[in-house]
Amino acid sequence: MTVHFIGAGPGAPDLLTLRGRDLIAASPVCLYAGSLVPAALLDHCPPGARIVNTAPLSLDQIIGEIATAHAAGHDIARLHSGDLSIWSALGEQLRRLRARNIPFTITPGVPAFAAAAATLGAELTLPGLSQSVVLTRTTGRASAMPSAETLPAFAATGATLAIHLSIHALDRVVAELTPAYGADCPVAIVWRASWPDERIVRATLATIVAAAADGPERTALILVGPVLAAEDFEESSLYAIGYDRRFRPQSATSPFAETGE
Ligand SMILES: C[S@@+](CC[C@H](N)C(=O)[O-])C[C@H]1O[C@@H](n2cnc3c(N)ncnc32)[C@H](O)[C@@H]1O
Repeated sequence: MTVHFIGAGPGAPDLLTLRGRDLIAASPVCLYAGSLVPAALLDHCPPGARIVNTAPLSLDQIIGEIATAHAAGHDIARLHSGDLSIWSALGEQLRRLRARNIPFTITPGVPAFAAAAATLGAELTLPGLSQSVVLTRTTGRASAMPSAETLPAFAATGATLAIHLSIHALDRVVAELTPAYGADCPVAIVWRASWPDERIVRATLATIVAAAADGPERTALILVGPVLAAEDFEESSLYAIGYDRRFRPQSATSPFAETGE
């Protein structure tokens, strides 16, 4: 018996990996985080599967469900939204499973920040503008931020920020970022990326609070950085004519021509 943790993707049912789909179909028990996992994914469960929405359960109750299935010899598909590597409560579940010697696998999923970038038609790293993306959040009721992980500290790097779990605190986000990025810095908010009711607002740090005033206070990503409105950026060297590289050696004397590396 194995617990298969599966990244369920950002919302669209077809943004699930084939591996994830096949594991759901092969597992007689499915535990899913009902607040964000699309119900359509449950259609992949086999007939008669035990399907449990874990949104109202405590960690103890979730581990209880797993222990019961384990004792019965049943595999479990455990679904969390997006990818499991960020804000999924994966770590605390794995710690409990390791303590009980319950085997598990992890199947990645499409994270919300990637779905939001796709919705915006944007690359979040552009040559000369930003080569880093900071996936972060602000303090919430369930999780305080470590003291060094502040928005002004991340803003000082000039990186592109993908701010999760913070749409309710948009005015504070703007106040903390404006000194470093400037009032003209582009901002985009994507609510429910890839869901049928997905919504986008594009503005600047100066105008985003008013522009997003009638938006929902849940399930949104706030993306901030110069890359979001940039057209005047360098092209990467990788595809430049004359750039000597492994797959495109530029001369017989290129180190890549000899070794093929
Ligand atoms: C608990 S975190 C889960 C993140 C998830 N594990 C991931 O990989 O994206 C939930 C937050 O992710 C963001 N989020 C999740 N799904 C989203 C979507 N479809 N569109 C926009 N933001 C989303 C929102 O900021 C939301 O408050």
